[in-house]
Formats: sequence, C-alpha cells, structure tokens
Amino acid sequence: MGVGDQAGERWAAAARANVPPFHVMDMIDAASRRAATGAPVFALHSGQPATGAPEAVRAEATRLLASGDPLGYTPAVGIPELRAAIAEHYGAWYDVDVSPDEVVVTTGASGGFLLAFLAAFEPGDVVAMARPNYACYRNVLMALGCRVVELPTGPETRFQPTVDQLAGVRGLRGVLLASAANPTGTMLLPGELAEIVAWCEEHGVQVISDEIYHGLEYAGTPATRLSRTTWSTSRRPVVFGSFSKYFSMTGWRLGWMLAPAHLRRAVEVLTGNFTICPPALGQRAAVQAFSATAGAELDGHVARYAANRRLMLSRLVDMGITRLAPADGAFYVWADVGHLTSDTLAWSHRLLADTGVAVAAGVDFDTEQGHRFVRMSFAGDPGEIAAGLDALAAYV
Ligand SMILES: Cc1ncc(COP(=O)(O)O)c(C=O)c1O
Repeated sequence: MGVGDQAGERWAAAARANVPPFHVMDMIDAASRRAATGAPVFALHSGQPATGAPEAVRAEATRLLASGDPLGYTPAVGIPELRAAIAEHYGAWYDVDVSPDEVVVTTGASGGFLLAFLAAFEPGDVVAMARPNYACYRNVLMALGCRVVELPTGPETRFQPTVDQLAGVRGLRGVLLASAANPTGTMLLPGELAEIVAWCEEHGVQVISDEIYHGLEYAGTPATRLSRTTWSTSRRPVVFGSFSKYFSMTGWRLGWMLAPAHLRRAVEVLTGNFTICPPALGQRAAVQAFSATAGAELDGHVARYAANRRLMLSRLVDMGITRLAPADGAFYVWADVGHLTSDTLAWSHRLLADTGVAVAAGVDFDTEQGHRFVRMSFAGDPGEIAAGLDALAAYV
C-alpha cells in the first residue's frame, strides 16, 4: 500500500458514521426543486403540520425579541418555567404526577435520543424495536455501536411488538416503543403498553418510549383516549415528548424527556457538554404552548387532521389501495402498494415527476418490506391533500 492510500484511509469519515441515508430527504429536495419551476407539488411526504406555532407562542416570541432581552444561555436542562409547565401537562393530560426536576428540555426529541441512548446503553448493547420503525432510532443507535434487533410486525399486532417477541431476543438491554408510531400511525393499547413495560422492568430492560405524537389520535373521544404515558405504569422508562407535532412547532427544535432517576445526572452532564442548552427564545415562548388559547387552536388542527384522515383513507380504498395500517394516531397512512410496484423508491420519484404527488418511500422505515410500502402524511393543507389524492387516483 502506498503513502497515498494510507492518507486516503486517514481522511475518511469514521466507519461508525456510515449509517443509511434518510431517503425522504431526497424526496423533499426533488419536490422543492419541482416547486421552484412553478410545477404543482402535492406534499404528502413530510411529517409536519402546514401550520405554524400557536398564536400565543408567536406573540411571546415577538415580545421577547422586541424587548431587547439578551436571551442568553439557560440551564442545561431547560428554564424552570418550561419544565414546570411540561410537568403540569402530565397532570392535566394523564393524571400523572411529574416533578419539574424530572423534566429535561431538549433540542427536539431528536436531540434527546442521543442523550438517552448514550446515558442508557454501552457499545454492543442489544436494543430492540418494531419493524417498520422510525429510521433515526436505528441509525443513531448504530452510530453509537449498539446492536439493533428489529422485530418484524404486521397488521395482526397493529405493527407493534409483543412481550413474546422481546422474550425471544437474547441479551436484550433496551427496547424502543413508539405509540403512535411513525410510519404506521398505530398505537399500543393501554393494556399492551403496561404489559411490555412491566416485563421490561422485571427483566432489567431499559424502555425508551417515544410519545411525541400524543394529542394526535382518532380512535375515540378525549375521554376514551388510548394514549397513556409510559410513566403511568413505571418510572424506569425514558419518555419523550416534543413541541414538533401536536404543538405544530417543528422548526423551533424543542422537545423534552422525562428522565428516570438512574439516568438523570448522566443526561444533565451530557446535555450541558453537547449543546450547553436548548434554544432560549423557543423555550421562553413555548411556555405559552400550554395556555388555554393555544390548546383551543391546536385542537382545531387535530380536527382538521381527522377530516384529512377520513378523506385519505376513503379515497385510497376507492382507488384500490386497500392494505392500510390502522391509522390510530399521528398523521400518517402506511400503505402496501405492492400491487403497483416492487420498488417504491423509484416509483415515488416517477410519481412526483409525472403528477407532482410527493410520498415517502417505505425503505426508510422497513429495511425488509419497505420496497412495497409508501407513507403518506395527512398533516398538510386539506385542499392540497384532496388535489394530491385526485392526481394519485388518476395515476394508479
Ligand atoms: C417517531 C418520531 N420520533 C421523533 C421524531 C423527531 O421529532 P423532533 O422534531 O422532536 O426532533 C420524529 C419526526 O418525525 C418522529 O416521527
């Protein structure tokens, strides 16, 4: 080997950074390039609300900016007012008593994943999750040297894992639960969630519970809500929440973690080292996201998602796309389009080019069967969704 080859090896990214790409980013890119030419785009690919932050949050951010407040660093784990508001939110929504000391504000749930995984797992630890799943869990765990075990799931368990599956994983150290999940939108029923959490506690398995889609569910009335925070069963899991989805604040990059006592100090030290603190302006303004006026505005968004969801499910069935995951929550429909293509990645780019309809190919979420699936979001503008479904119906 020559000197040049050695130098070539030296100036390369570390092997652990070699995680799979998130293909939906290419779709976002292709859709915006098409939109820039003036051609129509019907955005069903992106998991974010078309609306902005609640009015009360925006007003507070505007006030703070105008006041000349220096908006300096905050405590690493977040400002006390926001941690208190988040803690109260658990009382209001779930009747669960959470102390502000147990809340860590993070830069989106995404920023929190890195903290939780580092705090909870050693390199080589086996961490299980359902397949399909949200690719970033897998990719971040892999970059940290953990061994990811995917548990194949299907409609018979609403695409959620079971205790039997977990019991079959040798050397299991951790499990990722997501209810409602991305990409399927399916939820664990309260009894199923409690059963998994109890089993994990008994077997020393660290649960990481992604609850960032709470508030977005369609199966029942508020009184019969399926969403239960994992902390209503046990205080050992790490629980994630976010301002991105129900609160309609994706780009503000704010989320939170309920940190169990055994991880709290490690998380606090890590977060101070990584980012010093989450963005100060967002934290200060986000306190208003829990106000009554913001709640009324946000529940209006949920009513719109529910109408979008009804339209999307019925239109898809009408056009012969009938194998759909039960879209209990979040704002996604996970559709098997295996009768139309065996390569949804290429198909979705052709669909965009021919019709302007943008969907997310399943390969990001399901490493085995994703080539038959697409994920469609109903978080967007109702008119755009209806027009996109018309174009899709004409295409298929
Ligand atoms: C299941 C799931 N968890 C976490 C995230 C990231 O959320 P955040 O914007 O809070 O980082 C997403 C984003 O789409 C998601 O779908």
